[in-house]
Amino acid sequence: MEKVFGKKSTDNKKLVQEAKKARGNAYAPYSKFKVGAALLSKKDKVYTGANVENSSYGLSMCAERVAWFGAVSSGEKEFSKLAIVADTKEPVTPCGACRQILLEFCDDLEIISATIKGKVKRYTLKELYPFPFKVNLKN
Ligand code: THU
Repeated sequence: MEKVFGKKSTDNKKLVQEAKKARGNAYAPYSKFKVGAALLSKKDKVYTGANVENSSYGLSMCAERVAWFGAVSSGEKEFSKLAIVADTKEPVTPCGACRQILLEFCDDLEIISATIKGKVKRYTLKELYPFPFKVNLKN
């Protein structure tokens, strides 16, 4: 789902709120672990996602990738921040597969992770995934 925020879109709290809202649409009957994500593009649009599981467990998709694929398939390639929300004691970080995907078009991204109770941590994608696999298409 896409939303335009205007200038206030850089507000981390608002982005976390969007991720929290998106989490409400998570389909996680198998793990019971619901995650919401909100990705802010440099055009100030917010793309949200929630994890979607399947009875064939391995086909399940993380909230971060749902948001990212939605954004990229809407024409976005530049992002400034990603917010994630889960109901854990400590804020979660994106899984390894999501870290690789999120770095496709950029060298870094701010990640704001929050728990339902409001504990927030900030990371950079680079610190979470310092040596990604990259292919230089210009060679
Ligand atoms: N999951 C996410 O959506 N994002 C993460 O960062 C970690 C894990 C989902 C995948 C699966 O549906 C559930 O959480 C349990 O792993």
